Amino acid sequence: MRVNVTVNGVQRQADDVWPGESLLYVLRERLGLPGSKNACEQGECGSCTVYLDDVPVCSCLVAAGQVEGREVRTVEGLADDELHPVQQAFVDKGAVQCGFCTPGLIVAAHDLIERTTEPTDAEIREALAGNLCRCTGYEKIMDAVRAAAAKKAGVV
Ligand code: FES
Ligand code: FES
Repeated sequence: MRVNVTVNGVQRQADDVWPGESLLYVLRERLGLPGSKNACEQGECGSCTVYLDDVPVCSCLVAAGQVEGREVRTVEGLADDELHPVQQAFVDKGAVQCGFCTPGLIVAAHDLIERTTEPTDAEIREALAGNLCRCTGYEKIMDAVRAAAAKKAGVV
């Protein structure tokens, strides 16, 4: 099966796709975009989070055929010439250790601060509830999201 999908603003095509293949597999193995990570492949960890038509989804749970004609934005598509403020905040605040959870967390955090630049801690925790990190203990991730939101709000 052939799949046509816009990824990070570019029209892409993948051939010989098996109907049961996931969007995550297509992104990583067919389109050369390894930013989205495969940790559980069961919708449990959030490390594969991407935008599908502007809605964050676990790409391991989306069948490749479901994205025909649609728009996907991955963690690679958040940066332009420099890191997106959310990405920079994760670096600055030490919110990355092994980094496996980071792409999904960044997409989820990006979505949150697109919706509000003054999230409460409860809102941050809720927004990131589907993203599991084995390394950081979450406090530095919270710091990073707070910093990115403040930057977006123009507070810092
Ligand atoms: S790899 Fe998709 S949710 Fe874990
Ligand atoms: S930094 Fe290692 S899983 Fe989160």
